[in-house]
This record gives sequence, structure tokens and C-alpha cells, in this order.
Amino acid sequence: MKGIILSGGTATRLFPLTATTSKQLLPVYDRQMVFYPLNTLIKAGIKDILVIVSPEHSGQYLNLLGSIFKNHGVHLYFEVQKVPRGLAEAFILGESFIDDDNVTMILGDNIFEPDFSKEINNFESGGLVFAKKVPDPERYGVVKFDKSNKAVEIVEKPKKWISDYAIPGLYIYDNRVIEAAKKAQPSERGEIEITSLHNYYLNLGELKVSTFSGEWLDAGTFDSLLEAGRIVKEKKIYKKFDPMIDEAIAEFNEDLKALAKKRLL
Ligand code: G1P
Repeated sequence: MKGIILSGGTATRLFPLTATTSKQLLPVYDRQMVFYPLNTLIKAGIKDILVIVSPEHSGQYLNLLGSIFKNHGVHLYFEVQKVPRGLAEAFILGESFIDDDNVTMILGDNIFEPDFSKEINNFESGGLVFAKKVPDPERYGVVKFDKSNKAVEIVEKPKKWISDYAIPGLYIYDNRVIEAAKKAQPSERGEIEITSLHNYYLNLGELKVSTFSGEWLDAGTFDSLLEAGRIVKEKKIYKKFDPMIDEAIAEFNEDLKALAKKRLL
């Protein structure tokens, strides 16, 4: 299983904060946002992770993550998404990285409290996505279930209500996702939508949609960013990290302190 974190985009809703850095490098309580999706993948034992970033922030990502896991057996790779052409483009940009493997993609601004190790490790083929009841489904990719809880329809940001179940930004697909992404047609907003990929597997009868309990936060607005930090603190989500990540961050901090002492920072 390979991992992808999609951390591109311009995050105009968070201007002026994102005029100087990437949304996913903004702080959520005591660490940058990107560590939360990294934790979801690393906790599940994924060792090879591609971080897709926008060109203007690539230097900042390299400064933070370029060598942070070098002694910890996790390999991070970086790819630039020049123009945000949609979430599904990640699988085209990541084609050679994914190679012949399955892939779990997580959005860089999605923070999950639950541990998805079991789901990621037990995955065999097809597609596996998740669903969570939300008060504002029109903001998300939305899935409708039939009476036997089978997913029957998936729509990106539906203008007309179909269901209250949003699909969060954690997607597990087999290798066919690369071809599906290449064939996906751009939507009205000119992007190749992740929803097209869910529908590709849904039409094949090979998409599983699982509900889950525990927090899911997407930190894309001022309020949700503030709320994310508050919930992370209150529910002690920052204490449930894979210990390896905490060690790596502590080492990184020591290196920074040493540089600061020499006035090299
Ligand atoms: C994206 C996806 C959407 C998904 C959401 C989860 O929307 O397109 O299907 O439900 O992430 O955070 P965006 O936040 O890019 O508008």
C-alpha cells in the first residue's frame, strides 16, 4: 500500500493566512496540520508517502518534512501540482510513485480521530471510502444509501439534497484508480473530481462505503480551523499520534534549537 497526501491548492478562503504559507502548514494546536494526515497513514504502517504540494510552497514542505523521518523508516516523496486541476489528478501525478500498488489518499486538511489501520491493512481490491453524517452536506461529496445500507448514488456538492452522509477525504483504491483518473471528465468547475473515481468503482459494483465513529475535522475555514485546534486539544488527539512521529518532531526541534544557538536560523 502506498500513501498520498494532497496538500496543494491556494486556500483562498483562508486569506491572508495562506498568503504566506500553505493551508496544510498552518498550526492545529501544537503541530502543523499536515502531521495529522501523515499520522493516519503512518499509523497504518504505510512506509512510502507522496506529498503533493503547490509550487510556491514546495520549499517550506522540504524544510519541514524533507528529512524529518530519515532515521525512522518512512520515505516521503514530493510532487508539485502546478495548477489545481482536481483531487483526482493526484493519481495521475503519482502514477510512477504508485507503480503497481494499491493506494490510500488523504487530503492534507482532513483530521481524523479514529485509527484506520484495520481498514487500510485489510484492503484487497476495488475502492473503500467512508461516510459521516453532517449538517451541511452541500459542502461535500455525498453518498446516498438504500434501505439495506448499500451505496446507490454519489454526487459532488449536490445542489439538491440527496443524503446527509458526506464522504471525508480518505480514499483507498486499487491500482485501477490511475486509469480511472485518466479517463475522468472535468466537471463544470473544470476539475477532475474525486467523486468520478468513487462512481467508477460504484458502477463496477466494487465500492465499499463504511460509516465510522469518532471525530472528522476539515480545517478549510477560519471557524473550522479554530474548532479543529480546540477539538484536538480537548480530545487529546495530539497525544494519540504514532510515537515515531513524536520522536521525529522532537529530534527536529532539537536540531532547530542547535541552529538557533549558533544563530544560524
Ligand atoms: C473535497 C472533495 C469532497 C470531499 C471533501 C472532504 O472537497 O471534493 O468530495 O467530501 O473534500 O473534505 P473540497 O474540500 O476540496 O471542496
